[in-house]
Amino acid sequence: MNVEHHHSTSDIEAYNPFQGNRLGIDDCPVVTSAEIGERSVSVSFAGGVRHEFHHQWLRHCCYCEACGNPADGIRFNTVIDVDREMAPMSAAVIDGDLELRWPGGHVSTFGTDWLFHHAYDGAAGERRKSWRPITWRAELADDFPTVPWADASDGGAGQLRLYQLLRDYGIVQVAGLGSELERTEEFAALVGPIHETTVYGRIYDVRAEPIAKLGAKTGMAQASHIDDAFAYSQPGIDIFHCLVNTSEGGMSTYVDGFAIAESIAADDPAAYELLTTVSIAHIRRHPGEMDMRNRGPLISLDEFGRPCGIRYFDRALAPPDCAPELMDPLYDAIRLYNQRMVDPAFVAVVRVEPGSGMLIDNHRAMHGRTAFDPSAGRHIRLCHVPRDEFHARLRELSRTLDPTSHDLHLPQGSRNA
Ligand SMILES: [Fe+2]
Ligand SMILES: [Zn+2]
Repeated sequence: MNVEHHHSTSDIEAYNPFQGNRLGIDDCPVVTSAEIGERSVSVSFAGGVRHEFHHQWLRHCCYCEACGNPADGIRFNTVIDVDREMAPMSAAVIDGDLELRWPGGHVSTFGTDWLFHHAYDGAAGERRKSWRPITWRAELADDFPTVPWADASDGGAGQLRLYQLLRDYGIVQVAGLGSELERTEEFAALVGPIHETTVYGRIYDVRAEPIAKLGAKTGMAQASHIDDAFAYSQPGIDIFHCLVNTSEGGMSTYVDGFAIAESIAADDPAAYELLTTVSIAHIRRHPGEMDMRNRGPLISLDEFGRPCGIRYFDRALAPPDCAPELMDPLYDAIRLYNQRMVDPAFVAVVRVEPGSGMLIDNHRAMHGRTAFDPSAGRHIRLCHVPRDEFHARLRELSRTLDPTSHDLHLPQGSRNA
């Protein structure tokens, strides 16, 4: 997307159409009644669901034209404008919307869809944290999530399918992308703007070269790994575009880091505890150019205690630096994780055809390849797009095509120490 230059208020309004407290979702239960209580308003919806909304929350979250606009998140009132003891004077239901009148005459109107999707008690909070990854092992290769390019780029249901497979499996293949060089950027643009890095540049051509700086540019096997685990913000989505493959060797290997995390949590809780709490360090040094380092747990957990990111690249693991009494158990735990990464039960082996593309969540799924003859002309193009840009497009497309999933909490990726 191009940078927009706004010259007047009307330009801004044309670009960010005013929405008030509305989402534009049709099939939400309407508000049927509202009752003002001590500190909150109790709102009933058709079908019998009831949600409580705190007075100060309602006043602060008013996005009327005087208060702000959720279309772009711009707001004019802040929490210090809201008195803790403020309470609405009246609550009325008008055409399925909730209308509140405040002391001083301010009026807030909450669309039923906005209110329903922002409820934070009871089943509402549970619904938003209901997303779960579909974890997989070697068998994924038998029925690999794949979307044809024509569907993936349709701007509608096909594209949403692509996004949802990437969200749920952490990997999705696009078939029939074509082998033209410019297709790499068109493919990347489906999920967001390309993230340039020192190691890969903007678009990286993975081909065997006589003098290779990275292992990728040889014919050697590459064990499955996370790209650039040494960066504070490790690349988000790997975009692979296969132009030429070999008929022998050069198989792609994929491993689901969440599946390994799940298995270690079940088999060895003490190792899981170490991998989720003790920082490991990664390093990449290009002498005379850069010395990039990161510290963080191998398995990141989210606020609900669930894996939300994996950060492990065996060949870039820095000398461990932890409390001496943790050194042996930490090595044991890392070794357990690494053994499962190369355990055939966990490794899905796939032949990627020329003209195909692959999207991989680099905070979850690891990628590698088997050895191949470096003279065979194998050529893969690679670039990266941040995960937040991907999730941003997924939510926006979902809002109209699959509204009940547009506001689910998604894993925010590997965290830093
Ligand atoms: Fe890689
Ligand atoms: Zn307002």
